[in-house]
Amino acid sequence: MQTLKVNLGDRSYPIYVGSAILARAGEFLAQAGLRGKVAVVTNPTVAQLYLDPVHKALANSGFDAIPILVPDGEEHKSVASLQMIYDRLIAERFERKSCVLALGGGVVGDLAGFAAATYLRGIPYVQVPTTLLAQVDSSVGGKTGVNHAHGKNLIGAFCQPKLVLIAVTVLQTLPQRELVAGLAEVIKYGVIEDPALFALLEEKIDQLIQLDDELLIQTISTCCAIKAKVVEADEREDDYRAVLNFGHTIGHALEAVTGYTQFLHGEAVGVGMVKAAALSAQQGFCDQGSLDRVVGLIKQAGLPTEIPGNVSLPGLIQAMEVDKKAAGGKIKFVMCAGLGKTRFHWLSPSEILNALSA
Ligand SMILES: NC(=O)c1ccc[n+]([C@@H]2O[C@H](COP(=O)([O-])OP(=O)(O)OC[C@H]3O[C@@H](n4cnc5c(N)ncnc54)[C@H](O)[C@@H]3O)[C@@H](O)[C@H]2O)c1
Ligand SMILES: [Zn+2]
Repeated sequence: MQTLKVNLGDRSYPIYVGSAILARAGEFLAQAGLRGKVAVVTNPTVAQLYLDPVHKALANSGFDAIPILVPDGEEHKSVASLQMIYDRLIAERFERKSCVLALGGGVVGDLAGFAAATYLRGIPYVQVPTTLLAQVDSSVGGKTGVNHAHGKNLIGAFCQPKLVLIAVTVLQTLPQRELVAGLAEVIKYGVIEDPALFALLEEKIDQLIQLDDELLIQTISTCCAIKAKVVEADEREDDYRAVLNFGHTIGHALEAVTGYTQFLHGEAVGVGMVKAAALSAQQGFCDQGSLDRVVGLIKQAGLPTEIPGNVSLPGLIQAMEVDKKAAGGKIKFVMCAGLGKTRFHWLSPSEILNALSA
Protein backbone atom coordinates (compact mmCIF):
# COMPACT_ATOMS: atom_id res chain seq x y z
CA MET A 1 0.00 0.00 0.00
CA GLN A 2 1.13 3.55 -0.74
CA THR A 3 0.27 6.49 1.50
CA LEU A 4 0.35 10.02 0.14
CA LYS A 5 -0.61 13.32 1.66
CA VAL A 6 -2.27 16.40 0.26
CA ASN A 7 -0.73 19.30 2.19
CA LEU A 8 -3.24 22.09 2.67
CA GLY A 9 -2.71 23.24 6.24
CA ASP A 10 -5.64 22.30 8.45
CA ARG A 11 -7.39 20.84 5.40
CA SER A 12 -4.60 18.32 4.72
CA TYR A 13 -5.56 14.69 4.21
CA PRO A 14 -4.09 11.27 3.38
CA ILE A 15 -4.61 9.21 0.24
CA TYR A 16 -4.24 5.44 0.64
CA VAL A 17 -3.66 3.38 -2.51
CA GLY A 18 -3.65 -0.40 -2.18
CA SER A 19 -5.22 -3.61 -3.42
CA ALA A 20 -7.57 -5.19 -0.90
CA ILE A 21 -8.11 -2.18 1.33
CA LEU A 22 -11.90 -1.76 1.18
CA ALA A 23 -12.17 -4.18 4.08
CA ARG A 24 -10.12 -1.71 6.15
CA ALA A 25 -12.36 1.29 5.44
CA GLY A 26 -13.57 1.54 9.06
CA GLU A 27 -10.04 1.47 10.39
CA PHE A 28 -8.99 4.36 8.12
CA LEU A 29 -12.06 6.44 8.99
CA ALA A 30 -11.44 5.94 12.70
CA GLN A 31 -7.78 6.90 12.23
CA ALA A 32 -8.95 10.12 10.56
CA GLY A 33 -10.89 10.96 13.73
CA LEU A 34 -14.34 10.16 12.32
CA ARG A 35 -17.02 8.34 14.28
CA GLY A 36 -20.76 7.74 14.54
CA LYS A 37 -23.02 7.84 11.52
CA VAL A 38 -21.72 7.42 7.97
CA ALA A 39 -23.96 8.01 4.96
CA VAL A 40 -22.63 5.73 2.22
CA VAL A 41 -23.70 7.49 -0.97
CA THR A 42 -23.50 5.18 -3.97
CA ASN A 43 -25.51 3.93 -6.96
CA PRO A 44 -27.18 0.54 -7.62
CA THR A 45 -24.39 -0.65 -9.97
CA VAL A 46 -21.64 -0.05 -7.43
CA ALA A 47 -23.80 -0.99 -4.41
CA GLN A 48 -24.40 -4.46 -5.81
CA LEU A 49 -20.65 -5.00 -6.05
CA TYR A 50 -19.16 -3.18 -3.06
CA LEU A 51 -21.74 -1.91 -0.59
CA ASP A 52 -21.68 -5.10 1.52
CA PRO A 53 -17.91 -5.18 2.12
CA VAL A 54 -17.82 -1.45 2.88
CA HIS A 55 -20.83 -1.70 5.18
CA LYS A 56 -19.22 -4.61 7.06
CA ALA A 57 -15.89 -2.81 7.33
CA LEU A 58 -17.59 0.25 8.81
CA ALA A 59 -19.73 -1.79 11.22
CA ASN A 60 -16.65 -3.72 12.41
CA SER A 61 -15.10 -0.42 13.50
CA GLY A 62 -18.24 0.68 15.31
CA PHE A 63 -19.70 3.00 12.65
CA ASP A 64 -23.41 3.22 11.96
CA ALA A 65 -23.51 2.99 8.15
CA ILE A 66 -26.59 4.23 6.31
CA PRO A 67 -26.68 3.58 2.55
CA ILE A 68 -28.12 6.28 0.28
CA LEU A 69 -28.61 5.17 -3.31
CA VAL A 70 -28.77 7.57 -6.24
CA PRO A 71 -29.64 6.26 -9.72
CA ASP A 72 -26.66 5.58 -11.99
CA GLY A 73 -25.75 8.19 -14.61
CA GLU A 74 -24.39 11.69 -15.17
CA GLU A 75 -27.96 13.05 -15.45
CA HIS A 76 -28.40 12.22 -11.76
CA LYS A 77 -25.56 14.52 -10.72
CA SER A 78 -28.36 16.98 -10.18
CA VAL A 79 -30.05 19.31 -7.75
CA ALA A 80 -32.87 16.74 -7.50
CA SER A 81 -30.46 14.04 -6.27
CA LEU A 82 -28.92 16.53 -3.87
CA GLN A 83 -32.34 17.30 -2.44
CA MET A 84 -32.98 13.59 -1.95
CA ILE A 85 -29.65 13.19 -0.09
CA TYR A 86 -30.44 16.19 2.18
CA ASP A 87 -33.88 14.67 2.92
CA ARG A 88 -32.26 11.40 3.97
CA LEU A 89 -29.57 13.08 6.08
CA ILE A 90 -32.22 15.09 7.90
CA ALA A 91 -34.49 12.06 8.36
CA GLU A 92 -31.57 10.06 9.77
CA ARG A 93 -30.67 12.98 12.07
CA PHE A 94 -27.16 13.51 10.75
CA GLU A 95 -25.17 15.96 12.85
CA ARG A 96 -22.03 18.01 12.36
CA LYS A 97 -19.87 15.11 13.57
CA SER A 98 -21.51 12.58 11.23
CA CYS A 99 -19.93 12.02 7.83
CA VAL A 100 -20.55 11.09 4.23
CA LEU A 101 -18.67 8.41 2.29
CA ALA A 102 -18.78 8.58 -1.52
CA LEU A 103 -18.57 5.06 -2.96
CA GLY A 104 -18.49 5.24 -6.75
CA GLY A 105 -17.15 7.09 -9.76
CA GLY A 106 -16.86 10.82 -10.30
CA VAL A 107 -20.60 11.31 -10.46
CA VAL A 108 -21.17 9.93 -6.97
CA GLY A 109 -18.01 11.63 -5.68
CA ASP A 110 -18.92 15.10 -6.90
CA LEU A 111 -22.53 14.81 -5.75
CA ALA A 112 -21.85 13.29 -2.32
CA GLY A 113 -18.97 15.73 -1.77
CA PHE A 114 -21.20 18.71 -2.49
CA ALA A 115 -23.96 17.34 -0.25
CA ALA A 116 -21.40 17.06 2.57
CA ALA A 117 -19.92 20.50 1.79
CA THR A 118 -23.30 22.15 2.23
CA TYR A 119 -25.33 20.08 4.72
CA LEU A 120 -25.28 21.92 8.07
CA ARG A 121 -22.74 24.30 6.45
CA GLY A 122 -20.40 21.37 5.94
CA ILE A 123 -19.80 17.94 7.43
CA PRO A 124 -16.74 15.73 6.78
CA TYR A 125 -16.65 13.39 3.82
CA VAL A 126 -14.49 10.58 2.51
CA GLN A 127 -13.83 9.57 -1.08
CA VAL A 128 -13.77 5.87 -2.01
CA PRO A 129 -13.42 6.14 -5.79
CA THR A 130 -14.29 3.09 -7.91
CA THR A 131 -13.49 4.20 -11.48
CA LEU A 132 -9.99 4.85 -12.77
CA LEU A 133 -11.00 8.43 -13.59
CA ALA A 134 -12.19 9.01 -10.04
CA GLN A 135 -9.09 7.33 -8.56
CA VAL A 136 -6.60 9.50 -10.44
CA ASP A 137 -8.57 12.70 -10.76
CA SER A 138 -11.97 13.57 -9.29
CA SER A 139 -11.51 12.11 -5.78
CA VAL A 140 -8.49 14.32 -5.07
CA GLY A 141 -8.54 18.10 -4.98
CA GLY A 142 -11.87 19.03 -3.43
CA LYS A 143 -13.92 20.11 -6.43
CA THR A 144 -17.49 19.08 -5.67
CA GLY A 145 -20.74 19.95 -7.38
CA VAL A 146 -23.73 19.13 -9.53
CA ASN A 147 -24.88 19.91 -13.06
CA HIS A 148 -27.52 22.45 -14.06
CA ALA A 149 -29.75 22.39 -17.13
CA HIS A 150 -27.56 25.20 -18.52
CA GLY A 151 -24.27 23.38 -18.11
CA LYS A 152 -22.10 20.85 -16.34
CA ASN A 153 -20.71 21.55 -12.85
CA LEU A 154 -22.31 25.01 -12.68
CA ILE A 155 -23.18 24.60 -9.00
CA GLY A 156 -20.50 23.53 -6.59
CA ALA A 157 -17.97 24.22 -3.89
CA PHE A 158 -14.32 23.65 -3.14
CA CYS A 159 -14.31 21.31 -0.18
CA GLN A 160 -11.52 18.85 0.56
CA PRO A 161 -12.30 15.29 1.76
CA LYS A 162 -10.97 13.97 5.08
CA LEU A 163 -9.34 11.04 3.33
CA VAL A 164 -9.25 9.19 0.02
CA LEU A 165 -9.25 5.41 -0.02
CA ILE A 166 -8.26 3.86 -3.35
CA ALA A 167 -8.66 0.10 -3.74
CA VAL A 168 -7.32 -0.83 -7.17
CA THR A 169 -9.04 -4.24 -7.05
CA VAL A 170 -12.42 -2.61 -7.72
CA LEU A 171 -11.24 -1.83 -11.26
CA GLN A 172 -11.67 -5.53 -12.09
CA THR A 173 -15.42 -5.00 -12.50
CA LEU A 174 -15.16 -1.70 -14.36
CA PRO A 175 -16.23 -1.96 -18.03
CA GLN A 176 -13.15 -1.90 -20.30
CA ARG A 177 -14.39 1.22 -22.09
CA GLU A 178 -14.53 3.14 -18.78
CA LEU A 179 -11.07 1.88 -17.83
CA VAL A 180 -9.56 3.06 -21.12
CA ALA A 181 -11.33 6.43 -20.79
CA GLY A 182 -9.70 6.83 -17.36
CA LEU A 183 -6.32 6.17 -18.95
CA ALA A 184 -6.66 9.46 -20.83
CA GLU A 185 -6.25 11.32 -17.53
CA VAL A 186 -3.28 9.10 -16.59
CA ILE A 187 -1.59 9.93 -19.91
CA LYS A 188 -2.41 13.61 -19.32
CA TYR A 189 -0.33 13.65 -16.11
CA GLY A 190 2.61 12.20 -18.02
CA VAL A 191 2.33 14.84 -20.73
CA ILE A 192 1.97 17.84 -18.43
CA GLU A 193 4.27 16.92 -15.55
CA ASP A 194 6.11 13.64 -15.69
CA PRO A 195 8.19 12.31 -18.61
CA ALA A 196 9.13 9.21 -16.54
CA LEU A 197 5.45 8.33 -16.07
CA PHE A 198 4.94 8.88 -19.79
CA ALA A 199 7.81 6.50 -20.64
CA LEU A 200 6.50 3.91 -18.16
CA LEU A 201 3.11 4.05 -19.88
CA GLU A 202 4.71 3.64 -23.31
CA GLU A 203 6.38 0.49 -22.04
CA LYS A 204 3.63 -1.00 -19.90
CA ILE A 205 0.22 0.32 -20.91
CA ASP A 206 -0.94 -3.17 -21.96
CA GLN A 207 0.01 -4.57 -18.55
CA LEU A 208 -1.92 -1.69 -16.95
CA ILE A 209 -5.02 -2.49 -19.02
CA GLN A 210 -4.60 -6.10 -17.85
CA LEU A 211 -4.92 -4.67 -14.30
CA ASP A 212 -1.59 -5.66 -12.84
CA ASP A 213 -2.12 -4.70 -9.17
CA GLU A 214 1.39 -3.49 -8.39
CA LEU A 215 1.61 -1.44 -11.57
CA LEU A 216 -1.82 0.07 -10.87
CA ILE A 217 -0.81 1.04 -7.34
CA GLN A 218 2.41 2.61 -8.61
CA THR A 219 0.74 4.47 -11.50
CA ILE A 220 -2.30 5.70 -9.57
CA SER A 221 -0.07 6.88 -6.70
CA THR A 222 2.09 8.83 -9.16
CA CYS A 223 -1.01 10.47 -10.67
CA CYS A 224 -2.43 11.36 -7.24
CA ALA A 225 0.93 12.81 -6.19
CA ILE A 226 0.95 15.06 -9.26
CA LYS A 227 -2.64 16.13 -8.68
CA ALA A 228 -1.84 16.82 -5.01
CA LYS A 229 1.15 18.95 -5.99
CA VAL A 230 -0.93 21.01 -8.41
CA VAL A 231 -3.75 21.46 -5.90
CA GLU A 232 -1.31 22.42 -3.14
CA ALA A 233 0.08 25.14 -5.42
CA ASP A 234 -3.30 26.50 -6.53
CA GLU A 235 -6.25 24.98 -4.67
CA ARG A 236 -8.97 27.19 -6.18
CA GLU A 237 -7.72 27.27 -9.77
CA ASP A 238 -6.72 30.91 -9.82
CA ASP A 239 -4.08 30.03 -12.36
CA TYR A 240 -1.71 27.03 -12.32
CA ARG A 241 -4.36 24.36 -11.56
CA ALA A 242 -5.64 25.00 -15.08
CA VAL A 243 -2.74 22.85 -16.39
CA LEU A 244 -5.01 19.93 -15.51
CA ASN A 245 -7.22 21.11 -18.37
CA PHE A 246 -4.69 19.98 -20.97
CA GLY A 247 -6.75 18.45 -23.80
CA HIS A 248 -9.95 19.50 -22.08
CA THR A 249 -10.81 22.69 -24.00
CA ILE A 250 -11.34 20.73 -27.21
CA GLY A 251 -12.46 17.64 -25.26
CA HIS A 252 -15.27 19.44 -23.40
CA ALA A 253 -16.42 21.09 -26.63
CA LEU A 254 -16.47 17.73 -28.39
CA GLU A 255 -18.56 16.20 -25.60
CA ALA A 256 -20.98 19.13 -25.76
CA VAL A 257 -21.49 19.22 -29.54
CA THR A 258 -22.10 15.48 -29.62
CA GLY A 259 -24.73 15.81 -26.92
CA TYR A 260 -22.73 13.88 -24.28
CA THR A 261 -23.75 10.65 -26.00
CA GLN A 262 -20.97 9.80 -28.45
CA PHE A 263 -17.88 10.12 -26.26
CA LEU A 264 -17.05 9.24 -22.71
CA HIS A 265 -15.22 12.16 -21.07
CA GLY A 266 -11.80 10.47 -21.31
CA GLU A 267 -12.35 9.57 -24.96
CA ALA A 268 -13.09 13.20 -25.81
CA VAL A 269 -9.99 14.18 -23.82
CA GLY A 270 -7.97 11.67 -25.89
CA VAL A 271 -8.96 13.54 -29.07
CA GLY A 272 -8.50 16.87 -27.28
CA MET A 273 -4.94 16.00 -26.20
CA VAL A 274 -3.97 14.96 -29.73
CA LYS A 275 -5.33 18.24 -31.12
CA ALA A 276 -3.81 20.33 -28.33
CA ALA A 277 -0.41 18.72 -28.89
CA ALA A 278 -0.69 19.32 -32.66
CA LEU A 279 -1.65 22.93 -32.00
CA SER A 280 1.34 23.24 -29.64
CA ALA A 281 3.64 21.97 -32.39
CA GLN A 282 2.12 24.32 -34.97
CA GLN A 283 2.58 27.27 -32.65
CA GLY A 284 6.20 26.33 -32.05
CA PHE A 285 5.86 25.18 -28.42
CA CYS A 286 6.32 21.45 -28.96
CA ASP A 287 8.85 19.44 -31.00
CA GLN A 288 7.69 16.85 -33.55
CA GLY A 289 9.20 13.97 -31.56
CA SER A 290 7.10 14.75 -28.47
CA LEU A 291 3.99 15.21 -30.61
CA ASP A 292 4.51 11.82 -32.23
CA ARG A 293 4.94 10.16 -28.84
CA VAL A 294 1.75 11.78 -27.44
CA VAL A 295 -0.30 10.64 -30.44
CA GLY A 296 1.34 7.19 -30.32
CA LEU A 297 0.53 6.58 -26.65
CA ILE A 298 -3.06 7.76 -26.95
CA LYS A 299 -3.54 5.36 -29.87
CA GLN A 300 -1.80 2.55 -27.99
CA ALA A 301 -4.23 3.03 -25.09
CA GLY A 302 -7.13 2.45 -27.51
CA LEU A 303 -8.45 6.01 -27.26
CA PRO A 304 -9.84 7.92 -30.24
CA THR A 305 -7.55 10.54 -31.80
CA GLU A 306 -9.68 12.21 -34.46
CA ILE A 307 -12.62 14.60 -34.51
CA PRO A 308 -15.40 12.63 -36.23
CA GLY A 309 -16.40 13.80 -39.73
CA ASN A 310 -19.95 14.64 -38.64
CA VAL A 311 -18.73 17.31 -36.18
CA SER A 312 -18.64 20.83 -37.63
CA LEU A 313 -15.44 22.66 -36.70
CA PRO A 314 -17.12 26.09 -36.38
CA GLY A 315 -19.71 24.45 -34.08
CA LEU A 316 -16.88 23.03 -32.00
CA ILE A 317 -15.20 26.44 -31.70
CA GLN A 318 -18.52 28.00 -30.67
CA ALA A 319 -18.83 25.40 -27.91
CA MET A 320 -15.35 26.39 -26.67
CA GLU A 321 -16.35 30.03 -26.49
CA VAL A 322 -19.26 29.30 -24.19
CA ASP A 323 -17.02 27.16 -22.01
CA LYS A 324 -16.46 29.06 -18.78
CA LYS A 325 -12.70 29.24 -19.35
CA ALA A 326 -13.07 31.59 -22.37
CA ALA A 327 -12.51 35.28 -21.63
CA GLY A 328 -12.08 38.45 -23.66
CA GLY A 329 -12.74 36.70 -26.96
CA LYS A 330 -9.62 34.56 -26.61
CA ILE A 331 -9.47 31.06 -25.28
CA LYS A 332 -6.91 29.98 -22.70
CA PHE A 333 -5.10 26.93 -23.99
CA VAL A 334 -2.74 24.63 -22.17
CA MET A 335 0.11 24.05 -24.61
CA CYS A 336 2.48 21.10 -24.45
CA ALA A 337 6.00 22.51 -24.47
CA GLY A 338 7.71 19.12 -24.79
CA LEU A 339 6.94 16.11 -22.56
CA GLY A 340 6.45 17.14 -18.92
CA LYS A 341 6.24 20.86 -19.69
CA THR A 342 3.33 23.21 -20.33
CA ARG A 343 2.69 26.83 -21.20
CA PHE A 344 -0.56 28.80 -21.12
CA HIS A 345 -1.35 30.51 -24.39
CA TRP A 346 -4.36 32.59 -25.45
CA LEU A 347 -5.78 31.90 -28.91
CA SER A 348 -8.59 33.52 -30.85
CA PRO A 349 -11.35 31.31 -32.26
CA SER A 350 -10.14 31.91 -35.82
CA GLU A 351 -6.58 30.84 -34.92
CA ILE A 352 -7.94 27.60 -33.44
CA LEU A 353 -10.19 27.02 -36.44
CA ASN A 354 -7.25 27.51 -38.83
CA ALA A 355 -5.12 25.14 -36.81
CA LEU A 356 -7.79 22.43 -36.60
CA SER A 357 -8.53 22.71 -40.32
CA ALA A 358 -4.85 22.41 -41.28
N1 LIG B 1 -14.27 16.83 -9.04
C1 LIG B 1 -13.36 16.78 -9.98
O1 LIG B 1 -12.25 17.31 -9.83
C2 LIG B 1 -13.66 16.05 -11.24
C3 LIG B 1 -12.64 15.76 -12.14
C4 LIG B 1 -12.95 15.01 -13.28
C5 LIG B 1 -14.24 14.57 -13.50
N2 LIG B 1 -15.23 14.87 -12.61
C6 LIG B 1 -16.61 14.41 -12.79
O2 LIG B 1 -16.61 13.00 -12.76
C7 LIG B 1 -17.75 12.51 -13.45
C8 LIG B 1 -17.35 11.32 -14.29
O3 LIG B 1 -16.88 10.31 -13.43
P1 LIG B 1 -16.66 8.79 -13.94
O4 LIG B 1 -15.96 8.80 -15.24
O5 LIG B 1 -16.10 8.06 -12.79
O6 LIG B 1 -18.14 8.32 -14.30
P2 LIG B 1 -19.29 7.63 -13.41
O7 LIG B 1 -19.23 8.03 -12.02
O8 LIG B 1 -20.56 7.86 -14.16
O9 LIG B 1 -18.94 6.08 -13.53
C9 LIG B 1 -18.94 5.44 -14.79
C10 LIG B 1 -19.78 4.16 -14.76
O10 LIG B 1 -19.05 3.12 -14.09
C11 LIG B 1 -19.86 2.51 -13.09
N3 LIG B 1 -18.94 2.03 -12.07
C12 LIG B 1 -18.24 2.78 -11.18
N4 LIG B 1 -17.36 2.01 -10.53
C13 LIG B 1 -17.51 0.76 -10.99
C14 LIG B 1 -16.87 -0.48 -10.70
N5 LIG B 1 -15.83 -0.55 -9.86
N6 LIG B 1 -17.30 -1.58 -11.34
C15 LIG B 1 -18.29 -1.49 -12.26
N7 LIG B 1 -18.92 -0.36 -12.61
C16 LIG B 1 -18.52 0.75 -11.97
C17 LIG B 1 -20.78 3.61 -12.68
O11 LIG B 1 -21.93 3.10 -12.04
C18 LIG B 1 -21.09 4.28 -14.01
O12 LIG B 1 -22.08 3.57 -14.70
C19 LIG B 1 -18.29 13.69 -14.26
O13 LIG B 1 -19.46 14.14 -13.66
C20 LIG B 1 -17.20 14.74 -14.14
O14 LIG B 1 -17.73 16.06 -14.16
C21 LIG B 1 -14.95 15.60 -11.49
ZN1 LIG C 1 -10.93 15.20 -17.33
